Amino acid sequence: MKKHIVVLTGAGISAESGLGTFRASDGLWERHRIEDVATPEGFQRDPERVLQFYNERRDQLRQAEPNAAHFALVELESSHRVTIITQNIDDLHERAGSSHIVHLHGELTKACSSQDVELIYDIGYQPIELGGRCELGSQLRPFVVWFGESVPMLERAAELVAEADHLLVVGTSLQVYPAAGLVEWAGPSIPITVIDPGTPAHVRGANVLRKRASEGVPAWVEELRARVD
Ligand code: APR
Repeated sequence: MKKHIVVLTGAGISAESGLGTFRASDGLWERHRIEDVATPEGFQRDPERVLQFYNERRDQLRQAEPNAAHFALVELESSHRVTIITQNIDDLHERAGSSHIVHLHGELTKACSSQDVELIYDIGYQPIELGGRCELGSQLRPFVVWFGESVPMLERAAELVAEADHLLVVGTSLQVYPAAGLVEWAGPSIPITVIDPGTPAHVRGANVLRKRASEGVPAWVEELRARVD
């Protein structure tokens, strides 16, 4: 039976595709206040500003391409069972061709009803306009988990990490909970590898490779596949 590799990804895996990370010195949270653009209260106060913030990010995503790290994780599927749990709202894992992807924080290419977040609509790269309404008549909002909101996919993600044979963590500062706590669900004897050129939060027992994703992930995948052949 194929070994199950569970991969937890963050903004760093898409950095080399041209999408900025959040907490770098030139990151998104240096230019925007979280409470303005990534909370339900911010949306209530100024929906237009919030819609514009995500419309710009969606437009930027349309012009981005998956990089070697996204593609290497697709290649790994030929020798391993691979599940990707991503904090990213971009669709670069999908566009690279990965088969099993869990989005913890939502998806930029979807909108949902602000009255019932289970009413979800595919919008591709189109903007959400102020006045754009769901079928219940309420304003459409980005299908994104904001700070202070629950993370519906968390339980499923924890189950997946708990059954992993190897946990790979790529490009996340591990500063945002509950996502960061997922690493604790890995079994006690399960190898954990972290690929990140910066200094993410400490993960007990992890092998840390200080490399950029586009370099570190393909090399790691190649090594793992060589061990199977
Ligand atoms: N390759 C790999 N990792 C990289 C690269 C790269 N080329 N460039 C930067 N990184 C690393 C940084 O060193 C950092 O550890 O990516 C990480 C990015 O961290 P954050 O900006 O905090 O992004 P992330 O961990 O994904 O943020 C988590 O916070 O506000 C949010 O909801 C948002 O999902 C996001 C969550």
